[in-house]
Amino acid sequence: MDIFEKIKDILSSVEAFKIEDKDSLETYRLQFIGSKNIIKDLFGEIKNVANERKKEFGQEVNDLKLKAEQKFEEAKASLEDQDSATSYAVIDLTAPIEDPMVGSRHPISIVMNKLIDIFARLGFTVAEEREIEDDWHNFTAMNTPEDHPARDMQDTFYLKDSTVNLLRTHTSSVQSRVMMNTKPPIRIIAPGRVYRNETVSARSHCQFHQVEGLYIDKDVSFADMKQTLLFFAKEMFGPNTDIRLRPSFFPFTEPSAEMDVWLGTDTDTTRRLTKGTGWLEVLGCGMVDPKVLENCGIDPEVYTGYAFGIGIERSAMQMYDINDIRLIFENDIRFIKQFAPIV
Ligand code: DAH
Repeated sequence: MDIFEKIKDILSSVEAFKIEDKDSLETYRLQFIGSKNIIKDLFGEIKNVANERKKEFGQEVNDLKLKAEQKFEEAKASLEDQDSATSYAVIDLTAPIEDPMVGSRHPISIVMNKLIDIFARLGFTVAEEREIEDDWHNFTAMNTPEDHPARDMQDTFYLKDSTVNLLRTHTSSVQSRVMMNTKPPIRIIAPGRVYRNETVSARSHCQFHQVEGLYIDKDVSFADMKQTLLFFAKEMFGPNTDIRLRPSFFPFTEPSAEMDVWLGTDTDTTRRLTKGTGWLEVLGCGMVDPKVLENCGIDPEVYTGYAFGIGIERSAMQMYDINDIRLIFENDIRFIKQFAPIV
């Protein structure tokens, strides 16, 4: 082979050589860089090159040598880089860990989740809806007439520039939303935040939480409601819990009732919670007024149903002995972390 061809040949071997790890780097080094490398041998050949081409030859061999060295240095550097990256990622599995920060749930979430859990076991699914509602879904559909005091600016936050939009005053607004777009049977609970235009004090706040329940099907009776609520009370407050229903009034249910649970008067806490009566008021409920069904496109001749609304703050305050409702909304970590994490 012509000596110039040989240079080209070695150059293409240098270029084609794949250096992937330390071993191939070493093989490359021995072949092209080390003391007995094949490029060095070429220099010895200069004596066989015609005088007028000696210069050209010298240059080409030199170029080849530089290229081979450059490739070596680059490959070596990049392998070292990789090396330090892997050693950095090595994890010491025996190293002691810092105590993990375990968060705790907000007392309102604890109560709501417990409630959702109980009704989920009875086949209720969670429905969530908007907090900015319109007058129709919050009031009109729910059979609350135009002149009802609840519609007063004193009680309801109406949004600026609109007499129609408001912050929902109860989760009953979800009832109308769900009935409008679901065919019975309907079995939902709707947890969420509601707003009332009230002066903030230790006992009342302008925002709080409710869980609404709604069950609509053929032949749903007051007795069904009572059994469901009794089950709920026993799950929530203990197996010996008793309930009583007191007649009441809500525009959207007929008949309506308020439910108390029997906590007894045995301990200081139960006496305090029940103001000495043994009974704790827990929720409002009733049979869905036929007018409400009609407003929401459900035939009251075919379907009946019951509904209930549970205020969360009061139960949470009672369960956890919280004496100021404002604490619930301040999100002071010293307050929130007192409630045991639920696993
Ligand atoms: N929406 C009522 C309130 O905010 C609570 C309520 C009472 C809801 C009776 C109901 C119900 O669904 O049937 O005071």
